[in-house]
Amino acid sequence: MRACCNILLSSLILSVIFLFHGVNCEDPYRFLTWKVTYGDIYPLGVKQEGILINGQFPGPQIDAVTNDNLIISVYNYLKEPLLISWNGLQHRRNSWQDGVFGTNCPILPERNFTYTIQVKDQIGSFFYFPSLGMQKAAGGFGGIRIWSRPKIPVPFPPPANDFTVLAGDWFKTDHRRLRRILENGGNLPFPDGLLINGRGWNGYTFTVDQGKTYRFRISNVGLSTSINFRIQGHKMKLVEVEGSHTVQNLYSSLDIHLGQSYSVLVTADQPVQDYYVVVSSRFTGRVLTTTAILHYSYSQKGVSGPVPPGPTIDIISSLYQARSIRWNLTASGPRPNPQGSYHYGMIKPSRTIVFANSAPIINGKQRYTVNSVSYVAPDTPLKLADYFNIPGVFYVGGIQSYPPGGNAYLQTSVMGANFHEYVEIVFQNLENSVQSWHIDGYSFFVVGFGSGQWTQASRAGYNLRDTVARCTTQVYPRSWTAIYIALDNVGMWNIRSENWARQYLGQQLYLRVYTSSKSLRDEYPIPKNALLCGRASGRRTRPLKLR
Ligand SMILES: *[C@@H]1O[C@H](CO)[C@@H](O)[C@H](O)[C@H]1NC(C)=O
Ligand SMILES: *[C@@H]1O[C@H](CO)[C@@H](O)[C@H](O)[C@H]1NC(C)=O
Repeated sequence: MRACCNILLSSLILSVIFLFHGVNCEDPYRFLTWKVTYGDIYPLGVKQEGILINGQFPGPQIDAVTNDNLIISVYNYLKEPLLISWNGLQHRRNSWQDGVFGTNCPILPERNFTYTIQVKDQIGSFFYFPSLGMQKAAGGFGGIRIWSRPKIPVPFPPPANDFTVLAGDWFKTDHRRLRRILENGGNLPFPDGLLINGRGWNGYTFTVDQGKTYRFRISNVGLSTSINFRIQGHKMKLVEVEGSHTVQNLYSSLDIHLGQSYSVLVTADQPVQDYYVVVSSRFTGRVLTTTAILHYSYSQKGVSGPVPPGPTIDIISSLYQARSIRWNLTASGPRPNPQGSYHYGMIKPSRTIVFANSAPIINGKQRYTVNSVSYVAPDTPLKLADYFNIPGVFYVGGIQSYPPGGNAYLQTSVMGANFHEYVEIVFQNLENSVQSWHIDGYSFFVVGFGSGQWTQASRAGYNLRDTVARCTTQVYPRSWTAIYIALDNVGMWNIRSENWARQYLGQQLYLRVYTSSKSLRDEYPIPKNALLCGRASGRRTRPLKLR
């Protein structure tokens, strides 16, 4: 592939055409072929139809190095449309690859699509998942690890092994049935259990050698509940959160909200035996718990003793922990310069947006809203409608920057924003449940958590020095969370609740980050292989005209 690239690079015109695919020649390629099928899985002991990738549940791990080009050919052998989305991948200049229905047409049954993704200027731990309907409830997810380039210092010694932990709630009910329940105006039932890497109670084993240190990358891939993660008898040293190297605090347990990812180092410094790896539900009246096994090599003694308890409904300890998670200002991120050289807190936001969530009944059915608007998907992906100037699919400004009060309504909500704006976003949660918000295409600085109604005076409590940059943040019950975000990535980006019923029933919107420039420096043109559907059917993805 290198040779091909060098040849391409020798010709400016060809390299522009190559950019047209949204990849960069100078950086290595990784080619993946995924066959997506249904298959029988028994995660909680009963047979279910799971979504498998190359026969696996969870799906295969993606390993990449900063700036790698991932060429992922997805073959859809389900009997329904499919899109794979990438939680946390930034797709710089390339929202064409995001894999949500606002930007991509679904891959129809028996068809294929090749995603071309550069993990530009990223490191860290993320995951992918199927984004349509409630397919995520059937699997189809897997871990993504983006390693630092060899010459960039990582602020801890290489661990003896690097484990992916995909944990979260699980339902025995088929995903199509869950979707029908939601569409009929109902709510999801309480989850039937929790899984760790697709397995139930003691179903998965992590093997370690005494004295060595291991990295665990834990993501909450569930649909509806925050989780707490802990390992019996062991401390966890937090080192990374969604691409940010953190101050290396020790924790005995860690709260992981929907859609979030954390990396911890664990040293096997206890007597040789087996220990429980525990995941329990957080902020639920009834507490669900599951375990995996931390197995010391040569251990003769299985897991024993009570499963260590974790926090349950207490909010204060979770808030305290959230505030303790800070950026290591001297560590490098994807580049060798220290993370702290970007002084996010010294830049004054030019705009404030407040997003308030609520759970109204609209037309007799349960819906979820942001600023009184419950998102409804149009017949044509927004990104395509925007590109082809197809009228009537959406209009920019279908949602206000502040909660307007008044009745909730259905709308295809797209908020406009200018490229290079620096924005303060406040997620205001006046409901009694914890929320989790995610923004595609970006990482943002979580500057503050507070209780009650956010006001301008709340800014006095912001951390403007060393909070982490991440892509998913929790908002505590009757509380707010404030973030700063630099809108440096042109495109149509999904802002959504990571609670999958809320997301499905309208608690999401798109942010159209716009520039009038048509430069490749700002955004790649539509990929040649883009799927076209709805009112974009039959249009042409023309090659770039060189002037
Ligand atoms: C993948 O899809 C494209 C059309 O999008 C088609 O031309 C190609 O033949 C397909 N590949 C296979 C192996 O089916
Ligand atoms: C921050 O990272 C540096 C490496 O650049 C490391 O030496 C230091 O221990 C880290 N500090 C903390 C508090 O984790």
